[in-house]
Amino acid sequence: MGTVVQLKKQINNSYFQLKESVDEKLVLVEEKIKSKLTSDVELVQKMTNYHIHTGGKRLRALLTLGSAKLCGYTKGVRDINLAACVELIHSATLMHDDVIDAGDLRRGKKTPNSIWGNQSSILIGDYLLSRCFEMMVEDGNLEILKILSSTSAQIAQGEVLQLQHKGEVDMLEETYLKIISSKTAALFAAATKVGAIISNTENRKKDALDFYGKNIGLTFQIADDTLDYNSEFKLFGKKMGKDFFEGKITLPIILLFQKINSLEKQKINDFFIQEDRSDSDLSYTLNLIKKYNIINECYKKADHFISLASNSLSIFKDSQEKTTLENLTSFSLERNF
Ligand code: IPE
Ligand code: IPE
Ligand code: MG
Ligand code: MG
Repeated sequence: MGTVVQLKKQINNSYFQLKESVDEKLVLVEEKIKSKLTSDVELVQKMTNYHIHTGGKRLRALLTLGSAKLCGYTKGVRDINLAACVELIHSATLMHDDVIDAGDLRRGKKTPNSIWGNQSSILIGDYLLSRCFEMMVEDGNLEILKILSSTSAQIAQGEVLQLQHKGEVDMLEETYLKIISSKTAALFAAATKVGAIISNTENRKKDALDFYGKNIGLTFQIADDTLDYNSEFKLFGKKMGKDFFEGKITLPIILLFQKINSLEKQKINDFFIQEDRSDSDLSYTLNLIKKYNIINECYKKADHFISLASNSLSIFKDSQEKTTLENLTSFSLERNF
């Protein structure tokens, strides 16, 4: 019993352990981002300040720093610059994503689009991406340039694919995995692989970290989609039911639709055919989610990706970094923020 409790604690702490282990570097990442985004256009400065400083877990930047550390990168600042790049790509996609999803709350605060409108938010997203490309060019490594630029293209394609399947309640799990592989897991994989590349490590270690990142990314997005039906605003910082109201089909709805009876199917189908969904539509859906134990089913699906991520690190020799990254796989699912 004692061991189980201790293990759980370790998992929950793994994010903070990773953060602590690269603490000084993360401060430099923040400084780099800040200086890179400086602009004499007042609104650009205001909006980037607001978005970048509303917090965020900085998980992708931490993964670049953590992977570089695992691979023995010590000299130089390439890990800092590239962690900043990865975080800027993430920030840009969030700016655009909140416009697409008409999101008004993120990180517990109003989104830039809800304060300054869609037009400037899209342009600021473009500005963040462009600054990131400048930094990649400064780094000068063609392999990294190729990975990060094709990752940006993949994220955009994933978001469009998701739009293409809006409201499709009987979406295949395969399609869902394709969407989240592109819109989320690709950037996690790039974040971890870049850490390996700058360390000039052997190819199989690069591949292992690429695979680790991809699977932790899939787990992370499954958790995000599950939290959309089972979270507290105070911790999660996003409103529950956001995906439902948008008509976005995610794993909880896919698994629910597979299990419910034909009458219930008809109701769920009707909800998603409509242009808008009401609070009572959400309550009905949440009751079904409870009745069929769907939250648990989602976590069970994600367990597969957790094991893949965790096992991929087995080729690294034992170290504190390795343990932290292994435990982070469970954090990416069990998190509540
Ligand atoms: C939000 O990512 C977008 C998803 C891929 C689910 P995060 O939850 O990492 O966002 P911040 O940066 O910590 O707010
Ligand atoms: C993640 O998808 C967005 C990207 C990876 C671009 P979501 O739409 O689920 O993210 P949140 O819930 O708005 O943070
Ligand atoms: Mg969104
Ligand atoms: Mg979401």
